[in-house]
Amino acid sequence: MTRKAKEEGTRSPMAVLGIETSCDETAAAVLTVERKILSSVVLSQDEVHAPYGGVVPELASRQHLHSIGYVVGECLRRAAISLDGLDAYAVTLGPGLIGSLLVGLSFAKGLAYYCQKPLVGIDHLEAHMESAFLEHPDIPFPAVALVVSGGHTSLFFLKKRLDSKLLGRTRDDAAGEALDKIAKFLGLGYPGGPVIEKMASAGDPEKFAFSLPRMKNSSLDYSFSGLKTAALKWIDETKMSKNHPHLGDFLASFEEAVVRALLDNLSRAVQEFKPVSLILCGGVARNKRLRLRFEELARSSRLSSFIPSPQFCTDNAAMVAALAVEKLRTGKKPGRVLDLDAYPRFIISTE
Ligand code: KG4
Ligand code: ZN
Repeated sequence: MTRKAKEEGTRSPMAVLGIETSCDETAAAVLTVERKILSSVVLSQDEVHAPYGGVVPELASRQHLHSIGYVVGECLRRAAISLDGLDAYAVTLGPGLIGSLLVGLSFAKGLAYYCQKPLVGIDHLEAHMESAFLEHPDIPFPAVALVVSGGHTSLFFLKKRLDSKLLGRTRDDAAGEALDKIAKFLGLGYPGGPVIEKMASAGDPEKFAFSLPRMKNSSLDYSFSGLKTAALKWIDETKMSKNHPHLGDFLASFEEAVVRALLDNLSRAVQEFKPVSLILCGGVARNKRLRLRFEELARSSRLSSFIPSPQFCTDNAAMVAALAVEKLRTGKKPGRVLDLDAYPRFIISTE
């Protein structure tokens, strides 16, 4: 209950402010405990990193520092709520770029400590999975989730809410990273995923034959470095360039190969773990070819499928606040505000 509500003897709806700065988006969102999004602000740094063809960590942290006050202020203004009206804070702890994470964490710690409110530390991959529940709170369990972004490509088994087990993850590049790197190599722009999607839309996905990576034994891990090397070889052999007449066909074939590799393992996970639902999330889940194929796979396996709307696939803070609401609802005690620490690498338990 807020001080004002206490004074007036009324109860205001509980609200949580989420903050996300794990990579190159500065984001803040306010959610009520009923999971209603009061506001969600995402400030992209694409223009800062575009000249370099990828995220420059040092520039990312500096840009977060520059933007965070504005983004949080604008988020509160749009939600028509003051710091006094918030009941808890949530912030991404990792995995991500450590300098960027520390900006969001320090800012959130300052707010929570000053306001004497709980601060919930959030894992970025769990937050991506939570994004599917924003619009579909009743996803049936068990579910298998494919989290596919610029920094991560992982498969999880979800037994129930807040109970996920890692089934496989990339051993080298993430799928989004592979798309970004090929786009960078061809000088097409950053981020590469959306650029490739646009240029590939009229191309022939069967023009260039990519063979799919396969792990030894029955591992559900991914590897995209082989596909990337094969793409670089095609680029070299065909003298592929920005103005090549078959650029669209080449990009469509590469995008198709990435999608096939992603769904190949998902399909094996379905056979092994027999879920009733499939979830697709993370920045690359914005890709139309992937969305379409994913839904086809779910349909042919007679499973329900859930993909967040595009604005909740890429990094945002609504998923961060939503996961905090869920954790607080189930009685999970947040740690002491000043004890929370950021982590650069993946640490979800595989038990
Ligand atoms: O989830 P996200 O915003 O950040 C990380 O957690 O990494 O994902 C960013 C990634 C980038 O690699 C970007 O190229 C990719 O998502 N991406 C796409 C599309 N939109 C964003 N990839 C393919 N098709 C898209 N439409
Ligand atoms: Zn992300």
